[in-house]
Amino acid sequence: MTTAHYDDAQLLRARIGLASEIERGSAVLSSRVVEAFLNVPRHPFVPAFYREDGGLHRPWRAEDSAGEAWLREVYANQVLVTEVDGVHADGAGPEERHGVATSSSTLPSLMADMLDALDVRPGNRVLEIGTGTGYNAALLCHLAGAPNVTTIDRTEQLVAAARARLHEAGFEPVVVRADGADGYPGGAPYDRIIATCGVRRLPQAWLDQCAPGGLIVAPVGGAVARLAKLPDGRAAGRFLHRPAAFMPLRSGEDVRPEVPERQTGGRLTGISARELDDPGFSFWAGIHLAPTVIRHGPTLHDLADGSVARVLDHPDGSSSVALSGPRDLWHVVEAAHRSWLDENRPRREWFTVEAGPEGHQFVGYTAPDGTSSHWNL
Ligand SMILES: C[S@@+](CC[C@H](N)C(=O)[O-])C[C@H]1O[C@@H](n2cnc3c(N)ncnc32)[C@H](O)[C@@H]1O
Repeated sequence: MTTAHYDDAQLLRARIGLASEIERGSAVLSSRVVEAFLNVPRHPFVPAFYREDGGLHRPWRAEDSAGEAWLREVYANQVLVTEVDGVHADGAGPEERHGVATSSSTLPSLMADMLDALDVRPGNRVLEIGTGTGYNAALLCHLAGAPNVTTIDRTEQLVAAARARLHEAGFEPVVVRADGADGYPGGAPYDRIIATCGVRRLPQAWLDQCAPGGLIVAPVGGAVARLAKLPDGRAAGRFLHRPAAFMPLRSGEDVRPEVPERQTGGRLTGISARELDDPGFSFWAGIHLAPTVIRHGPTLHDLADGSVARVLDHPDGSSSVALSGPRDLWHVVEAAHRSWLDENRPRREWFTVEAGPEGHQFVGYTAPDGTSSHWNL
């Protein structure tokens, strides 16, 4: 292993540092989750990762750094990107690369919140969708017992590396390559299902594979949903308070839809790209846009009718939007912003989420005056 030059005292200090940082940011974590972070090391799962600087990713390995610098980064409360456009940091050349992160070790404080919401008990049968580095799977093994944990990811390379590192760290869960959209029927039913990649709607397989009374924690529509499976087959719950930008669950061939270049209109707008990123507003905007709308940075694209809106913030503080396709998508965002202010900026944790056995999934909100609204997912 590349980390032999760190002694036990250094590694213990690093784990205590990370657990303390996680605890400082959250007043509600259960002691079991904090104890898991104190006991499970992160460094064996990220012997190499990409450091990001201005959109460029540069691979960094333990042996590239002097002293405890690498250890400090690995045990910081930060995301560690391990794969960019399918190129894993383990085997990457020294050159910097542009591209999209396709696998990473999630922000530890977010992992902690999700694990806390999952309320894993010893003996629970757990399915994780998105093995990535294997670090979260190791924490799940600590909490549930390794023989009860199944974790899946989309490439053989990712699962083979994670399986080997879990083994090295003393855990032997089931680690398999599978499309997360199908869950993993082989180990179902599960008492707990956790996804570490985002979906717009919960795949039916996750609902089917969750045992009655079980819990599902997953990023849905840009926020982390926590649902309980009810005896009648529905699953219902709420969203966690914190923003969570997860890489999406990618299924089948990755076809990146072409954004049409031809612009049919443009105008000034009072809603900037920064506003769209506001952690409070982004969730509200997301549920008001049709489920077929996807976002790449400042560009919204409705896959159903080809409408595109691209917002641009100017140095003088104004913003404009370039439009193409049959309808003005940005109108939806502007109207959503007005209603968000009218409703006094509702927070994501005030919304409910429900998924029915017939594929009906929706987000609900009840205003203080008792008026209820629903949006389909
Ligand atoms: C944020 S990373 C997971 C972090 C991981 N839990 C850890 O502790 O390192 C998201 C993962 O979701 C995986 N993923 C994306 N689409 C998937 C799919 N269809 N099936 C299974 N895994 C998928 C990615 O390959 C990536 O490894």
